[in-house]
Formats: sequence, structure tokens, C-alpha cells
Amino acid sequence: MEITVLSDNFGVEITKFDCSQNIQLNDIKTLKDLIQSKHFICFKNQNLDGNSLANFTKNFGDLEAYPEKDKTKGKIEIFNVSNVSEKGEHLSPDDQRVILQKNNSRWHTDSSYRYFPASFSILYGQETLPNEAAGGQTEFSNMLIAYEDLPEDKKELLEPLHQVHSYNDIRRLEPGLPELTYEEKSNFPPVTHPVVRVHPDRNYKKSLYFTSNTSLEIGGMSLEEGKKLHSWLVQYISQDQFCYKHYWEKNDLIMWDNRVLLHRVIPYNYAKYRRAMIRGTVEGTVPVLGPFSNQIRMRL
Ligand code: OGA
Ligand code: MN
Repeated sequence: MEITVLSDNFGVEITKFDCSQNIQLNDIKTLKDLIQSKHFICFKNQNLDGNSLANFTKNFGDLEAYPEKDKTKGKIEIFNVSNVSEKGEHLSPDDQRVILQKNNSRWHTDSSYRYFPASFSILYGQETLPNEAAGGQTEFSNMLIAYEDLPEDKKELLEPLHQVHSYNDIRRLEPGLPELTYEEKSNFPPVTHPVVRVHPDRNYKKSLYFTSNTSLEIGGMSLEEGKKLHSWLVQYISQDQFCYKHYWEKNDLIMWDNRVLLHRVIPYNYAKYRRAMIRGTVEGTVPVLGPFSNQIRMRL
């Protein structure tokens, strides 16, 4: 395995490593250390399908299942992040499967609508855009650094706040999506997460934690105040000094840490270009703890 650092802030590229094989224990340890310290890994020139992606993902924990009853893929643990159907047809931009991709262009961290949000996501590019096409990159923003750089008064303002995260609220942002069934809604009741989270596995360091792709409400603030703060956060974390953009090449496999990074796809011409990716997701095992969570208050 050959490792190259991608930017000062975060990210490494790995070549000469085959993710479709059984991975040796010492390599798993290296990859776990890298994702912990660098938050983003791009493995070049991979050759994967749903099964081998699922097997690779399992090296890092249990697989998360898709929240809707099998609407977009064959295998419930492998998400189709794609404007191409299972059968290979280029889908219309108003197809619900494509609308879900459009929602990915809002800054977010995966499955924040769960009480235990995903820890890692692992995305494989089967079909990527030609070089001349605009958009289609995946952009990341580092919430540890963004938090550190906040002015003190903003840190104080944000510290006690929680955001509402509701899977059903994607429908408010994308009214073209069909209603969830009663069962799907009941499986994912709204949750709240602290806007400033702590990382027990990083010596209780703090970072920002929020999303733009489900609910936008901030608890303890009026709707209007909350929205204003939320748009301030979005423009703040979009600044270049916190961000890294991944320019896709076919057969890239990228992995990121959802506890540290926000991400979004840069919109592209969905009708003109095909973009087909599959994703394995590592289920979270702990809630998002904030400075005022009982576990943290009682420990410190
Ligand atoms: C995702 C996601 C971004 C992209 O798969 O979770 O947000 O670039 N994807 O497709
Ligand atoms: Mn995502």
C-alpha cells in the first residue's frame, strides 16, 4: 500500500491496494488509524460489486441498512447513489431516486436522522462524469477545524444548541418525493443532536455537527432565528480553508468519517450525464454527545 497526503487539513490517497480481497489485520489497523487521523481516504483503481463492497465495509463495523423499504437497490445494505437504475437505465431527473441524489447536494453528514448516526461511509464510483462536465465532485468540510476557528462568542452561542434531524423532513426540502409509509416514519422518529459535539475518542475535542439536508430547526430558538443561524453556519463551513473537493475518476473508492466531516455533491446536469455509485455504510454505535450530555457532564 502506498499512501499520499492530499491536503494539509485532511485526506490521503492510497494506491497499490486491493479492497476486494480479504484484508490482513495489520492493514485494517493501518486503515483505521488513517481514517481516525486523516478523516478521508481515496483508494484508487478498485474493482468492486455490491458483495465485495459490503465485505470491505464490514472490516470497520456493522452495515447500516437503507431507511426505506428497498426502493432504490437490490441489497438493503448497499445504497445506490446514482441516476442510473439497477438495470442500467439513465433515470429521469424527476425520478424519486434522482431527487434523493439532489438532496445530497446540501451539506450533511450521513444518517444524522438516527440516534446513532453512521460512523463511516464508503462510496465506489462505477460510472463518473467526463472531465469536461461541470460538477459531480464530492466536497468535504472539516468540522474539527471549523469549530476551532470560530470566534469565541459564536462558540458560546452554539454550545448549548441542538438541531432537529428528521428523515421525514427531506420531503419538505424535496416535495417531489413520495410520502413515507407509516412504518418507515415510525422507524425513524425525529431526533436532536448537539450543534457542538464532543469526541470521546479524541480526548473530548469539540467540533460542529449539523446538516442542511433534513430539518433546519434549532431547539431553543424561534424558527426564524434558527434559520438565520443555520444559513450563517452553511456559509461559514463552505469556506475553502475547511474544505477538500474530490474529483472523481472511475473506480475510485472513497471513505470518510461522518463524525468529523460534512459532505455534499456538487450539482451536475442530471439529465445529460450518468453518475453511478454504490455505498456501504458503517453503523454508528454511540449517540452524538454534546458538552451538556449527561455522560459528559458527569465525567468532567
Ligand atoms: C452519499 C453522498 C455524495 C456524492 O452517498 O452519502 O452524499 O457525491 N454522496 O454522491
Ligand atoms: Mn451523504
